[in-house]
Amino acid sequence: MAGRLEGKVAFITGAARGQGRSHAVKMAQEGADIIAIDICRQVDTVPIPMSTPEDLEETVALVKATGRGIVAAQGDVRDFQALKDVVDEGVRQFGRLDIVVANAGLAADAAGMDVMDEKLWNDSIGVNLTGVWLTAKASMQHIIDGGRGGAMVLTSSVGGLKAHPGIGNYVSAKHGVVGVMRTLAVELAPHNIRVNSVHPSQVNTPMLMNEMTYRMFRPELENPTQTDMAVVSMGMHLLPTPWMEVSDISNAVLFLVSDEGRYITGVTLPIDGGAMLK
Ligand SMILES: NC(=O)c1ccc[n+]([C@@H]2O[C@H](COP(=O)([O-])OP(=O)(O)OC[C@H]3O[C@@H](n4cnc5c(N)ncnc54)[C@H](O)[C@@H]3O)[C@@H](O)[C@H]2O)c1
Repeated sequence: MAGRLEGKVAFITGAARGQGRSHAVKMAQEGADIIAIDICRQVDTVPIPMSTPEDLEETVALVKATGRGIVAAQGDVRDFQALKDVVDEGVRQFGRLDIVVANAGLAADAAGMDVMDEKLWNDSIGVNLTGVWLTAKASMQHIIDGGRGGAMVLTSSVGGLKAHPGIGNYVSAKHGVVGVMRTLAVELAPHNIRVNSVHPSQVNTPMLMNEMTYRMFRPELENPTQTDMAVVSMGMHLLPTPWMEVSDISNAVLFLVSDEGRYITGVTLPIDGGAMLK
């Protein structure tokens, strides 16, 4: 079934690669024009390579290949003006805004709460929590002005519903996203704007597939590989898979923002192979 977002416009953060790119392409395939932002540079507390300008260019090309339009900019979700500039420009070009996916996130270095450096804490809270709120703040008036209702999806994590040791900065930020989501769901319901959060477990993106994560999953091994990580990752799920693919998250996001989800708001949706039950 194509065309589920025909004539709509979607704003997606963290769209240069991973889940954000997948959401952008999927929504464009379904008929939406896309407004995209990504930081496209390294944040110094993040020990894995972040996205590049070339990654964002590739997303732009993939969206254009579907026949839909895209307005894309490099910018940090902690920078309200950068968010506002790109969303305002997108609305100027496409004439409306219907959908927001606050997906940008980073995995600042891990540490126990007793020794965590404040910079690790602040970067995680700044991007993964404050950035989500600023994304909504920069865009919601455009949806309200359209008078047609709309939908937002905020990307949290299984780590936004239960704790994991050693990543309290990430877990705290992702729990905070639920508070942002619930508040927005209440505040925006009179405008028929629905707000939900998605909670993936492990997803096959660069955020997961790197040596730092392999070590986090297999600290007892000297040089853990993806295969070593997969064994432990599989054990965290009820269903027999070590991780989700980006399309699994995009399909859930699409459902939530499309008319099929028209009465769903305020929901925390795990896409986790049953990880919440373990
Ligand atoms: N990969 C997983 O296992 C997993 C699991 C649960 C939740 N998540 C969440 O899913 C979302 C997408 O992550 P992903 O898996 O696609 O990883 P990813 O690293 O491939 O993509 C994240 C994107 O966000 C961008 N970004 C980071 N900080 C930014 C900032 N300050 N401003 C703008 N853009 C910024 C990155 O440059 C990157 O392109 C994140 O919020 C992440 O926390 C990921």
